[in-house]
Amino acid sequence: MSDINAIGLHESSASQLAEKLNELLANYQIFYMNVRGYHWNVKGPQFFELHTKFEEFYTDLLTKVDEVAERILTLGHQPVHAYSDYTQLSRIAEEKHVHDGEACVRGVLKGYQTLIELQREILSLASDADDEGTAAQAGDYIREQEKTVWMLNAYLG
Ligand SMILES: [Fe+2]
Repeated sequence: MSDINAIGLHESSASQLAEKLNELLANYQIFYMNVRGYHWNVKGPQFFELHTKFEEFYTDLLTKVDEVAERILTLGHQPVHAYSDYTQLSRIAEEKHVHDGEACVRGVLKGYQTLIELQREILSLASDADDEGTAAQAGDYIREQEKTVWMLNAYLG
């Protein structure tokens, strides 16, 4: 059995990256559900503004859930797809009983900061493994989400 996978990466690196990407996937899934919770349950004078904004965030998170899972498959591994695994693997905790607009925005901010942190770890691993595909994906997400962090902080004043 060859040590090189279908896209020319060492199997040991691909397997290490896939494991880390599964951790990232778990965080995206839990965060996605948290943001849906904010979208549904937020109350107060900023309801219309926040309800719409949270939909924009969770729609983007869902797109990235699929892209991360398909990157794991591209590396020759299997994406985890059970919520029981996600809760075990995720650094982002599930949130319940959320209503306050500012608390919801802080939850979004914290979630994006955690994703950025994890993606930096993946970027570093991918660079060491000469895995430009995974590194580029992580880099794109980091750049986008750093801008979102700036905007969320601006909103919070
Ligand atoms: Fe909705």
